[in-house]
Amino acid sequence: MAVSIVVGTHWGDEGKGKIVDYLGENAQVVARAQGGNNAGHTVIVEGEKYVFHLLPSGVLHPGKVGILGDGMVVDPSSLLGEIDFLRQKGKDVSERLFLSSKAHLVLPYHRILDGIYENIRGGRKLGTTGKGIGPAYEDKVSRWGIRVGDLEDEKLFAQKLRVALDYKNLLLERAFNQPPLPYDKILEDYLGYASLLRPYIADTSKMIYQFYREGKNILIEGAQGTMLDLDHGTYPFVTSSYPVAAGSLLGVGLGLGSISNLEVLGVCKAYTTRVGEGPFPTELREEMGDYLRDKGGEYGATTGRPRRCGWLDGVILRYAARINGITSLALTKLDVLGGIDSLKVCRAYLVEGEEVDDFPVSSHLWDKCEPVYEEMEGWEEDISSVSSYYDLPSSAQRFVEFIEDFMQIPIAIVSVGKERRNTLVRKEIF
Ligand code: GDP
Ligand code: IMO
Ligand code: MG
Repeated sequence: MAVSIVVGTHWGDEGKGKIVDYLGENAQVVARAQGGNNAGHTVIVEGEKYVFHLLPSGVLHPGKVGILGDGMVVDPSSLLGEIDFLRQKGKDVSERLFLSSKAHLVLPYHRILDGIYENIRGGRKLGTTGKGIGPAYEDKVSRWGIRVGDLEDEKLFAQKLRVALDYKNLLLERAFNQPPLPYDKILEDYLGYASLLRPYIADTSKMIYQFYREGKNILIEGAQGTMLDLDHGTYPFVTSSYPVAAGSLLGVGLGLGSISNLEVLGVCKAYTTRVGEGPFPTELREEMGDYLRDKGGEYGATTGRPRRCGWLDGVILRYAARINGITSLALTKLDVLGGIDSLKVCRAYLVEGEEVDDFPVSSHLWDKCEPVYEEMEGWEEDISSVSSYYDLPSSAQRFVEFIEDFMQIPIAIVSVGKERRNTLVRKEIF
């Protein structure tokens, strides 16, 4: 009986999906806690590619119970599309998938407002995924939101939509000079989704608690990353939810005091990337950045945007360890660093001439952070077919062990390729 939380240590896309898929084997319950279809997790199993946006990636394993937790914002058409996609691939999740009735719905006006807000920001835009995530969470907090559970009662849903849409149309027409959205069409679409989603709607917080009490292993799958956290990330260049470990328990409705066996696995890429705008101290704007993007296939799984690339930011990794209480690490995409003579890891920043080893809280300092690097010898070999950690070239092992020493946290998993089998385990998680 254990709960494992997987969190991204930087700005998302650390390879959480691949690690979750690997760990999913030993879990009985796999859950998403927060975020929506802004997430994109690519999992490759025997050449077959699956991209998850809302469903927990662990449902790829037959028989695992999948939960979309209370803290999520759910776009029903995107969810139904994913369920269908899996069905076409011969993976039917219909009997084992549960959708929290407390999760919030993403509605058409959320997507439209996401675009309008970005346009208004102009040069200071956030670079969102355009999926309506920010406006959906905004409605949740300001109590204009409509929840998944509201779909269970057509009359109630129709009433709530009327009130919310009247307000949104007022905004669209008067503030943004846009045409109003048609109530009848949205109502019809959402009642259609309701009839398809109704069998999945449940009190998932209660279910997860019961599973835990029965001794099941529960895997809570992170989406986004620590630096995209609404409170702890590089605000305002963040998402609108809480990707940190504490947000996971909040988002699935598990009480902190009820868990006695908790692992927090931080997933960290061997270099750092970010998609969207905002500070990124170790970003490489020259050739090496292009090299990492090409070799690592660093293009967003949700929007296809090129990801910005840089050396591994160890300062942020240390910050992530503290904020999340990371107990083990998974280091991914080590294979991508092959063929580079000299590798760098940022161990501190120089800020206005002073060396600092923690991520500054004040945003006016972020663009002033100059990385202080530790340089290490690289390796030439392609390591993607290596099947044991000890068969890695010695300089690759030194790279891993440098990070482990620097962090004083065990690196439980080293990932050297996209496939489930390209996973080197140094310490079992479940
Ligand atoms: P997530 O959002 O954290 O789940 O990460 P993404 O799936 O968006 O991005 C990670 C990308 O790297 C995906 O395309 C994975 O297939 C790929 N990937 C994951 N681990 C490895 C690895 O160890 N090596 C290589 N070469 N690719 C990997
Ligand atoms: P996974 O789960 C990387 C980023 C967006 C943007 C900011 C706000 O695949 O790691 P939003 O649409 O959430 O309002 O956008 O957050 N972002 C991600 N970047 N990976 C993700 O998820 C992301 N989810 C959101 O690019 O900078
Ligand atoms: Mg991703």
